Order: sequence, then C-alpha cells, then structure tokens
Amino acid sequence: MNQLGITGDFDVLPTIGSKEFIAWLPTVLESKKVLYPKIAYPTYLVSAQLAHAEHQAVDIDPNQWPASDLLWVNSPSNPTGRVAPLSELEAIIKYSRKNKSVVASDECYINFPATISAPTPLSIFNAAAGNNENILGIYSLSKRSNMAGYRAGLVVGDSALIAKIREVRKHAGMILSAPVQAAMIAALGDEKHVRVQADRYAQRRSILRPALEALGFKVEHTEAGLYIWCTRGEADMDSVAFLADRGVLVTPGHFYGEAGAQYIRVALTATDDEITRAAARMHE
Ligand SMILES: Cc1ncc(COP(=O)(O)O)c(C=O)c1O
Repeated sequence: MNQLGITGDFDVLPTIGSKEFIAWLPTVLESKKVLYPKIAYPTYLVSAQLAHAEHQAVDIDPNQWPASDLLWVNSPSNPTGRVAPLSELEAIIKYSRKNKSVVASDECYINFPATISAPTPLSIFNAAAGNNENILGIYSLSKRSNMAGYRAGLVVGDSALIAKIREVRKHAGMILSAPVQAAMIAALGDEKHVRVQADRYAQRRSILRPALEALGFKVEHTEAGLYIWCTRGEADMDSVAFLADRGVLVTPGHFYGEAGAQYIRVALTATDDEITRAAARMHE
C-alpha cells in the first residue's frame, strides 16, 4: 500500500469486487446526501438510489459543492481517463474536513498511466498528509491484476470508519472467501505483472488513438485508465453507428451522464490482435 503514499493511522478491508462496496456504501453509512461527478461510473448514482439518499451530480470544483455526507471521487476517471492534480485532491480534502463528508475515492485505475513513461496518477492519500479521517480509497484487482472473475477488491483508509463498515458488512454476509483472499495476497505481493498489464494498455492506446484521430475524433483527458474518451462534436449514437459500420463497438457517452452526450468511450480491453485489426479497419 505504500505506493498510495498513505501515512498515519489506516486500516484495510477486502471486498467482493469494488462494485458491491460502491453500490452499498451509502446504505451501510446511512448517508443522506451523496455527491458524484457529472460524468461518472453509473454505480455512484445507483449507490445513492439504493440508500434512498438525496443525490447531486457536481462539477470538478469543490468550492461549488453543497454540503453532503458522502462524496464519490474517481481519478483516474471512468470514462474520461482524467487524472485529478494534487491541488484538486487537496481541495477535496479541505471540503471533507469542513463538511465532515466521507470522501470515497475510487482509484481502481491508478496503476495505468497513459504512456509507459507518464508518472503514476496520485492517490487521495497523497493529499491527506497522514490524517485519514473520513477518507476511503477503493481498489480493484479486476483492474490491477486482471482478476475480474475472482471478485476481489479492497478499501483502505480511516480505521474507525472501516471498523464501522466492517461491523455492518459482516452481519450482511459481505465476506470474501478465504481462497480469494489468499489469491489477493499473492497478487498484491507482485508488481511485475501490473507493469506488464500497464504497458499493454499503453501500447493499445498508442495504436487506437491515432486511428480515431485520423477519423476526425478529438481525444480529451485520457491521461490514465482503460479508455479513450473522444468526440466528433456530434451525438454520441451517431459516432457509435459510424464506428459500428467499421466493425468497432464503443460505448455512448450518455451512459455516464448527460454531459457525455457528444462523446464516446473506447475501451482498451480487447486483445492486442483485435485492437490492431480494429485500427486497420478504421484506417481503411
Ligand atoms: C470506476 C469503476 N469503479 C469500480 C468498478 C468495479 O469493478 P469491480 O467490481 O470489478 O472491482 C469499475 C468497473 O468497471 C469501474 O469502472
């Protein structure tokens, strides 16, 4: 965990993949008001709905945010690949301290910078300066170690908060099996396979990005993670249909919020061979 830059008091809790943890966190914490980014992974909204909590999609600047008791942060972002700079993470921590709001920072793509030489994206813990009160970092072995089928995730941070969460979760049966925990320990003890995976995504990005640009797509953000976020300034479904005609399936941006309605998300999760062939078809 020292790659996260975490210092001070903290605890770690394994989860059955990170999606279930995200979906149920506001219910477990009995949150009343939940904030999440305007363009975001849909489960943040689902989490608030499951908890019957008030919810609001917010822009990037924490100075504009209303008071809340739970805040979803996602850097590197799915779908945009945007990475929050340190100043933004510091502003988020400041907001949390002022409002006593839990920061749930979903950092499942933290291991995948856009290029091999790019710096590793920062964690919320880089901005917490050893005071982890109300701060949770959420990680997924589905991404880091390509182990989606194992359903293995973990949450790190405020030990008092994690104790409270653990207490509810154990009575709700949200307990990870011992064999999967053993597999997690093995995977988390090795960094080599993570670098191989990161290089693989960087390589695929370097093939797909110019192919999209040659077709008139403008790439935005895409600083890290598993996706290319781009636009041709038209309705997302027109871009989806345009690429489908070339045998390439992409996700329409409106899946991630209205603000994504002119964007598409292109995943780097197909095989190397499929990515190479898709790029060739796009260049034809
Ligand atoms: C931002 C984000 N968080 C969490 C998850 C959930 O992953 P898992 O439940 O496999 O750990 C995903 C999966 O796509 C994701 O994109």
